[in-house]
Amino acid sequence: MKIAFIIGTRPEIIKMAPIIDLTQKRGIEYVLIHSGQHYDHEMSQKFFLDLEIEKPHYNIGVGSNSHGKQTAQMMEEIEKVLTQEKPDVVMVQGDTNAVLAGAVAASKLNLAVGHVEAGLRSFDRTMPEEINRKIADSCSTMYFVPTEESALNLAMESIDPHEIFITGNTVVDACIRHLKIAEENSNLLRELDVDGDILTLTMHRAENVDDPERLKNILDAIMELEDITVVFPVHPRTLKTLENFGYLEQLENSDHIKLTKPIGYLDFLLLLSKSKFVMTDSGGLQEEAITLNVPCITLRYNTERPETVTAGGNILVGSDKTKITETIKKISNDNELYKKMQEAKNPYGEGNSSEKILEALLKFEKEGKLDINS
Ligand code: UD1
Ligand code: UDP
Repeated sequence: MKIAFIIGTRPEIIKMAPIIDLTQKRGIEYVLIHSGQHYDHEMSQKFFLDLEIEKPHYNIGVGSNSHGKQTAQMMEEIEKVLTQEKPDVVMVQGDTNAVLAGAVAASKLNLAVGHVEAGLRSFDRTMPEEINRKIADSCSTMYFVPTEESALNLAMESIDPHEIFITGNTVVDACIRHLKIAEENSNLLRELDVDGDILTLTMHRAENVDDPERLKNILDAIMELEDITVVFPVHPRTLKTLENFGYLEQLENSDHIKLTKPIGYLDFLLLLSKSKFVMTDSGGLQEEAITLNVPCITLRYNTERPETVTAGGNILVGSDKTKITETIKKISNDNELYKKMQEAKNPYGEGNSSEKILEALLKFEKEGKLDINS
């Protein structure tokens, strides 16, 4: 069996890494294709170093552009590589434009497509990621879903249950493995020189950071949270809008806020594990927070990770300033509630998702189901 892995952004590198690593260890042939959607050292190459995966065999170097142009360029180049490499199965992960381009290009070449983190739905079609997930799922042959809820979403869309594998999320594999390494090697906390409690903040969703009103509400709330040190590694999209809307100086001059560049995976995991709270609009962070028992406050009005909310580890606050500050105050002042959030059961598995995914692939290969023309 020959597997083609397609990745394009920071979370795809992190979540695909455990499967790539296992593929390599088992001596299975593979080709790694990077779309180049993320290209800064700290958004891409740093993760190859931290996660100890080999350099991609191909980097399409698509860079930043409008959705249409970026997706079209990726499709064109991915098609060329797949035609040349002739893999038995093409693996995509998550909900970015690279997933959309990879799944469409592969399925039009009549190649089997395995979608890792399939079946997630926010039911919010204004999110580009929701469109990408749905299209990728309609092009897929095998669905590696993290939870029963995501399996049900696919069942409601008439996907054959034999093609759905409940595997947990590979982010747990990555988290468990790399936290140990981070604890031994990371100097970040010393470098940040933080006293007391930490709130780790990340945001990059277009609907938050590109919308002046929502961005202002969130930042006003953060400014008010003076009793806790806010560590804020800034995503490049967010840096652009903080600069454009003139917020950067104000944030840099706030004593309780520490702005940093995007942080490598090892340092970030350590930071997260030592945080009292995480506040985020990231998908992966909602999963990692519950994995590491850190209460999560999500800066969104909906989530495709509802299991984290049902389990009690995640609260959705949207971009409402009062809701954000009041929620943090409420949890900080209520030890029992804080503990309950910390103890929320992780719905994403025990850290063996990559093994489950590879087993399913080998089973499908053995049964001849990867050949979708037969
Ligand atoms: C993308 C994904 C999003 C995912 C996120 C992970 C889509 C539609 N969006 O969003 O689902 O959650 O990655 O982080 O696929 N930029 C740089 N350097 C880089 C990359 C981007 O400066 O290495 C800047 C560019 O100005 C670019 C902007 O960030 O225009 C946005 O990048 P883009 O890849 O379009 O979307 P993300 O917001 O990163
Ligand atoms: N992350 C990181 N450094 C940072 C911010 C995030 O390593 O400075 C990791 C985080 O641990 C998680 C992933 O990046 O695994 C989430 O990526 P992002 O929020 O960009 O995308 P999303 O998950 O929302 O698609």
